[in-house]
Amino acid sequence: MQEEIGLLQELERIGAEAQAGLDQVADAEALATWRQTYLGKKGALTAALRSLGRLPAEERPIVGQRANQLRETLEASLEARQAQLDQQALTAQLAASAIDVRLPGRPQSLGAMHITSQTLRRIYEIFGGLGFQVFPSREVEDDVTNFQMLNLPPDHPARDMWSTFYLTDPGLLLRTHTSPGQIHAMRHYHPEPLRVILPGKCYRFEQVTSRHEFMFYQVEGLAIARNITMADLKGVLLSFARQMFGPERRLRFRPSYFPFTEPSAEADMDCALCGGKGCRVCKGTGWLEILGCGMVHPQVLRNGGYDPEIYSGFAFGMGPERIAMLKHGIDDIRLFYSADLRFLQQFA
Ligand code: PHE
Repeated sequence: MQEEIGLLQELERIGAEAQAGLDQVADAEALATWRQTYLGKKGALTAALRSLGRLPAEERPIVGQRANQLRETLEASLEARQAQLDQQALTAQLAASAIDVRLPGRPQSLGAMHITSQTLRRIYEIFGGLGFQVFPSREVEDDVTNFQMLNLPPDHPARDMWSTFYLTDPGLLLRTHTSPGQIHAMRHYHPEPLRVILPGKCYRFEQVTSRHEFMFYQVEGLAIARNITMADLKGVLLSFARQMFGPERRLRFRPSYFPFTEPSAEADMDCALCGGKGCRVCKGTGWLEILGCGMVHPQVLRNGGYDPEIYSGFAFGMGPERIAMLKHGIDDIRLFYSADLRFLQQFA
């Protein structure tokens, strides 16, 4: 009887101690230790059960039953604690890897068309409306096409206007203007009439300033047919100026010199900003130079495969950056290719 009471008390003590210990258990490792301490083969409960043998046979069932109850209770508590710990671990893991969905998203910066491309497209549109096709031409040219076919033989003094970058291959260079494209276009179309614009990059070896870049775009224009006169040239360019800069615009043609046109001219447009009165942009003159032009030189026609006795043509060359500068009041051509977003985004 004494033994029985002692053993039941021992079981109660183990139970109370185990439950209290379980509350302290904070992780899986501590839980494993706890299990060994109370439920393991060498644990407290097993040790208690082993002393059952010392009890009289009739007392054993009561204590044994109590011991089994206790084992079940402790196992249930263990399971509950285990579940609790798993839940805590999961919560911690989720918190650590959490995405705060309340934060605003990172905006994707959207690209936009470069101001030069926008200007080129407008130019294509206008000349397309006048029946001109875009004729692509190469940037790496040979001396013959860039110069000689355009009446600029080696050592011709006018070559000084077009100093360029020469490639290591003899006779090859970066084109200084889009005019060599005239030769390619003529050889492509002759003896049919043609009406093309030739847009693209040009290169010049020169001091870079607010008005000069070593790389810039040009849009060449070329029309060849029977009976083309300077009146056609003037009409086409006036139509272009008015569509690009407004229906009020006027043009004036000043005599000029290019070896590949005869006669040659420079076209000025009246300053839209001051209406021709004279201002900062037109430097007080009321006029803005927009392009070079002229009637295709007979020798150039011949070089392209056309008989100058039958055909005549006009040509012009304009700088789209300059057109954009006039249109948008941009005062430095270096801004175009300096990749400064503050500049570029104004035209996005
Ligand atoms: N190629 C000339 C230049 O670069 C422009 C031009 C083109 C002039 C066609 C007349 C005719 O300056």
